[in-house]
Amino acid sequence: MSLADAACATLGSLVADATMALGRAGIEQPRREARLLIAAAIGSGPETVLGYPERPLSGSEKRMAEALVARRCAREPLSRILGRREFWGLPFQLSPATLDPRPESETLVEAVLDSLDDKTRPLRLLDLGTGSGCLLLALLSALPAAEGLGVDRAPEALRTAAANARALGLAERARFAASDWGAALAGGWDLVVCNPPYVVEGEIAGLAPEVAAHDPRLALSGGPDGLDAYRSLIPGLLHLLVEGGFAVLEIGVGQAEAVVGLLGEAGLRCRAPRRDLAGHDRCILAVRVAS
Ligand SMILES: C[S@@+](CC[C@H](N)C(=O)[O-])C[C@H]1O[C@@H](n2cnc3c(N)ncnc32)[C@H](O)[C@@H]1O
Repeated sequence: MSLADAACATLGSLVADATMALGRAGIEQPRREARLLIAAAIGSGPETVLGYPERPLSGSEKRMAEALVARRCAREPLSRILGRREFWGLPFQLSPATLDPRPESETLVEAVLDSLDDKTRPLRLLDLGTGSGCLLLALLSALPAAEGLGVDRAPEALRTAAANARALGLAERARFAASDWGAALAGGWDLVVCNPPYVVEGEIAGLAPEVAAHDPRLALSGGPDGLDAYRSLIPGLLHLLVEGGFAVLEIGVGQAEAVVGLLGEAGLRCRAPRRDLAGHDRCILAVRVAS
């Protein structure tokens, strides 16, 4: 792709050309994304791109902008091109091994915080399948006396999560370790959160290219019916939680009944599913009741 002529390229002309190119590629908000990509290319904020349309670009700035716009036209997610994603109002860096955190996963954070009477008491949090660390670190940012462990099977994801903890000033209260769900862990957790892979394997190829080609398969695939990860990890939850402790699990559309059934078989008592902003059942909270 070649955007505005180098001799006369300005921020305004570049935004116009990039908007057209992104629109042709099927990007839903082409002007907004054009501004963000061009801002990244010139090392500035989108307000500069909006406020100074007559500003000329150097040759290297224009080439950088063209490269970023071309990547987005090839349907690489904006968050991966920019190298960051906001979750719970906090900035997270991503890597090829991490899921791009989804806004609907903030429903888990809300469910946890709404269930805690005292947010200042010391708590031990466990995040199974931590990816970028977004769930654990969002919770630690809201619970000042809590400490937590994030586990994952992907070593590169653990490195990214640890870097996010350092960047957010939460590293003293967050640890990360490799584990196949909770298999390598002792009990004693007040709270377990988990957003497992739950996409039906055969449906992955039909998802948007931003997801199918860029989110790691280990973070997406829930096997033939989408429920493999729940079957693996739910039986271990009772042993991980303290009495009175609870687990919050993200679920996909239509999975509530099956996951509630698995949690009940594992000896946990479920509350009604919590919905996300789109009205879909998005997570289940299950308590280990005192015996
Ligand atoms: C859907 S992603 C969730 C990532 C992050 N918690 C979030 O909400 O954005 C699922 C995560 O589980 C991890 N995972 C998959 N199988 C696992 C297993 N057997 N044990 C531990 N983690 C696993 C993946 O690597 C991925 O990071």
